[in-house]
Amino acid sequence: MNPPAPNGTVLQVSPLLPSLTAALATGHRTVVLGEQPDPAAYLAEHGAEVVAAVTTARIGVGNDLMDALPNLGAIVHFGVGYDTTDVIRARSRGIDVSNTPDVLTDCVADLAVGALIDVLRGLSAADRYVRRGDWQRGAYPLTTKVSRKRVGILGLGRIGQAVARRLAGFDVELSYHSRRPVSAVPYRHVESATQLAADSDILVVTTSGGAETTGLVSEEVLAALGPSGYLVNVARGSVVDEKALVSALVERRIAGAALDVFVDEPNVPAELLDLDSVVLLPHIASGTHETREAMGDLAYRNLHQFMTDGTLVTPVPR
Ligand code: DGY
Repeated sequence: MNPPAPNGTVLQVSPLLPSLTAALATGHRTVVLGEQPDPAAYLAEHGAEVVAAVTTARIGVGNDLMDALPNLGAIVHFGVGYDTTDVIRARSRGIDVSNTPDVLTDCVADLAVGALIDVLRGLSAADRYVRRGDWQRGAYPLTTKVSRKRVGILGLGRIGQAVARRLAGFDVELSYHSRRPVSAVPYRHVESATQLAADSDILVVTTSGGAETTGLVSEEVLAALGPSGYLVNVARGSVVDEKALVSALVERRIAGAALDVFVDEPNVPAELLDLDSVVLLPHIASGTHETREAMGDLAYRNLHQFMTDGTLVTPVPR
């Protein structure tokens, strides 16, 4: 840990919730990088004054920026994910890293279940059907029942467990794959992602992003899910081999997908735009007033505590 310097600069790396930006500016010397006329020139001249950086899960702190901040002591993420920051590199420099776990679990799990129901029952597609006036020409095609399906959860962390608790109310059969079995959960642990997909009608991806999970939902996993299988992804686009997913959906080698995350956000593969078998969401799983305010509050508390005594409220797990 680099010792705190109460008079050091707090760098706001990316746009944040207005209430968090306002809080950061109160009581700390805060600089918003994007408001500098020439950010690179600012970093060259003032980078050594920065002791803490506040950023979003989506933007993180890239290696070039980290290198431009020689006295950085903490990276505070607004968001539970931190795969956009090289945490191992940060730690090797004595930089501590925090995120905002727990406060978004409910909303992400709610959205995962909503998206799952949407894609199986065709809700978004049915809404488009009504608006287009197609109902006058005939009844909407039949869809697929949710209750009593086999659901596999990939990554049974806090969010995965919250999804499982919600889905238990649908009398589904739940199993999961995580690197290590989770103790004290009533769900079956499956040894591999491929086996989980083979054993599931619906695969829900809730694992964290980053190098260890990149491409985990591979062509092989999608093949195991099969033509009647559905994929729900509320984790990170990188966890899924997106090219393989697009081909599987276009060629109907899986039945459908509900996706809140993509590899190159905000860009979505063009092939998916016309497919009614896919629900496309703009990374909104944590996007409610209540949750974003709670995330902002926790991010602020991390920053403030770091500036006060050099520790973090919710450091990312080692
Ligand atoms: C997170 O917190 O990592 C989410 O993906 C942001 O909505």
